[in-house]
Amino acid sequence: KILILDFGSQYTQLIARSIRELNVYCEIKPCLQPIQWDPSIKGIILSGSPFSVNDPGAPTVDIAAMAAKVPVLGVCYGAQLMAKVFGGEVAKSSIREYGRAFMEHENKEETLLYDISGKSQVWMSHSDTIVRMPEGFEIIARTENIPVAAFKSQPQGSCPLLGLQFHPEVTHSLEGKLLLRNFIVHICKCQQDWTPAAFVHETIDRIREQVGNKRVVMALSGGVDSTVAAELIHKAIGQNLFCVFVDNGLLRKDEFETVLDSYKHMGLNVKGVNARDLFYGELKGVSDPEQKRKIIGRLFIEVFQQEATQLTDISFLGQGTIYPDVIESVSVNGPSVTIKSHHNVGGLPEKMNMSLVEPLRFLFKDEVRRVGREIGISELFLGRHPFPGPGLAIRILGEITPDKVAMLQEADAIYIEGLRDAELYDKVWQAGTILLPVQSVGVMGDERTYEFTVALRAVTSTDGMTADWAHLPYEFLAKMSNDIINRVKGINRVVYDISSKPPATIEWE
Ligand code: XMP
Repeated sequence: KILILDFGSQYTQLIARSIRELNVYCEIKPCLQPIQWDPSIKGIILSGSPFSVNDPGAPTVDIAAMAAKVPVLGVCYGAQLMAKVFGGEVAKSSIREYGRAFMEHENKEETLLYDISGKSQVWMSHSDTIVRMPEGFEIIARTENIPVAAFKSQPQGSCPLLGLQFHPEVTHSLEGKLLLRNFIVHICKCQQDWTPAAFVHETIDRIREQVGNKRVVMALSGGVDSTVAAELIHKAIGQNLFCVFVDNGLLRKDEFETVLDSYKHMGLNVKGVNARDLFYGELKGVSDPEQKRKIIGRLFIEVFQQEATQLTDISFLGQGTIYPDVIESVSVNGPSVTIKSHHNVGGLPEKMNMSLVEPLRFLFKDEVRRVGREIGISELFLGRHPFPGPGLAIRILGEITPDKVAMLQEADAIYIEGLRDAELYDKVWQAGTILLPVQSVGVMGDERTYEFTVALRAVTSTDGMTADWAHLPYEFLAKMSNDIINRVKGINRVVYDISSKPPATIEWE
């Protein structure tokens, strides 16, 4: 595997994903955390950073000690740090380089540049530049504006040291993936055998080893992660996996029945629990968004726990935790190490004295889908838009009543079906309807109406952190407006949300 030491760059996860796409396993570690060496580590990549290497308190690491064991590649800040710690000089550049640049070289024989065009588009994002190389280091590529775009060195008794001033991990560096491949395959000598099939195989073995003949309980949500995780555990231990799928009354129209049915078809040992009235009862009169979330979270745990305690001899809790939830990243505000909160069923494992089984803990979302495909999970699950845990509760602004839920479910179903029919569903990242606490005047036939407004939301995004409103065709929006108003009693107005995130959020609450 490859270790990526994170110095806080926004692109660190992209390095990891590019390497995984080359079918090589890699892990991201905070730069200041001591390395746990093991023979599977074949190379190290030092990431970019929001710091300048000349900032007081800029994070630094012992690169020579690393290179004594494996090849090291520095990217952007990583390259500058390498130049600096070996005695070179880094300074603010007179020309700041951001965005497109062209790397030029004549070193066809150079392993890192193998098969890379003599002039290759790369993506720069730095204001510092290396003004003097350390002794023994050789420049192997430049750009029009900066003399050092790529360099290498191999001190005696050391593995190769390489540096790239630009970001090979972003798609705008057109041959960046090839550069990473040259480093990983030709210099670090990694085997490209990290495939979905290999992952499935290894994971099933690992689960069997961890769980033995004990029992696992797991909550399913209908989402991609919990479904793929459950199926992997199921493949490993069969009927010793017990699943619980809770109907909180806040799912999409008919979703509980459809999804429960699919789970049963997959052969999962699953119990569907209808807890609608409990949720509606406790949510009565509550309109504060945070309070809604808290109530739903608490009730979910209560219901799940009650089901779990009815089962005997349960030793493990299965979870669909994925890699972005557990990556320890370097805070942008300082070289301190911060750990993102892990999502788990709110303290349940300790309370119930269970250990965790998390088969997807080291996968990115797109890898979860690839693994899902490998084990034959239906596109019904794999292609599904994200849906928030609190469900329609945070899409009904103000107080929640069963009538409002039913109204919103109808409007939502028309919209989602409409998106599918128009082949727009897979073009947007997430879509849904929001019921506004606003009534307005309308006219239907000869009658005056005074009914609710529904907002349609559709966004494009890659991770939900930022999002743009989807520019859906007017004809489609016109059809949705007609269909919803004509078919859903209680709604006489439809609006389309044209806000991006930031400054808005995807959900309205
Ligand atoms: P926002 O509204 O913060 O949403 O832009 C970003 C993504 O997160 C989802 N979301 C949630 N998911 N529990 C969840 O499981 C929640 O409380 C929650 N709030 C928002 C949202 O649907 C979007 O995909």
